Amino acid sequence: MDNDIAKVLYSQEDIKNVCQKLGKEITKDYAGKTPIIVSVLKGAIFFTTDVVREIDLNTEMDFIDVSSYHGGVASSGEVDLVTDMGSDVAGRDILIIEDIVDTGRTLKYIVDLMMQRSANSVKVCTLMDKPTGRVLKIDADYVGFTVPDEFVVGYGLDYKELYRNLPYVGVLKPEIYE
Ligand code: XMP
Ligand code: MG
Repeated sequence: MDNDIAKVLYSQEDIKNVCQKLGKEITKDYAGKTPIIVSVLKGAIFFTTDVVREIDLNTEMDFIDVSSYHGGVASSGEVDLVTDMGSDVAGRDILIIEDIVDTGRTLKYIVDLMMQRSANSVKVCTLMDKPTGRVLKIDADYVGFTVPDEFVVGYGLDYKELYRNLPYVGVLKPEIYE
């Protein structure tokens, strides 16, 4: 598996540090509140479990599965709700946890859904932001790393469902997807 990686962008150590930093900020900003942490499957699972353990607050957790990639390296342009979350969103403070914001389509879809469901507030924490990919005007409130315009895998992110279990974030060798 490691043989398919051209370079490591963020090591386990880098990720640990960024989770601690984001967890502190979120703890401060949500003091006195009980947010619902909404993790976006499947890519954000590792990041979610690491960052929530750095949040020193009462939180609830839920999961939503949304798909826009359909297994390739470029966004398809449409977003499907694959599996909905179970919690009642009305009047609640929602913190969406994403792996990466690229075009912004996935994020916009989820944020709009939470607003339609009358959330009290909606914020977004993403491990990575790829601003060069942005098509829609939407940004995350908490960003771990700002990434270059490259397709990244590992720590939850996949190429054709593979590489999610790499403990770091890396760039695939071009021959893998060319
Ligand atoms: P959009 O374009 O909707 O993309 O902002 C968000 C979702 O697309 C996936 N994505 C990636 N997955 N490497 C990946 O493995 C990447 O470089 C990448 N860029 C976007 C990801 O699932 C994200 O939630
Ligand atoms: Mg995702």
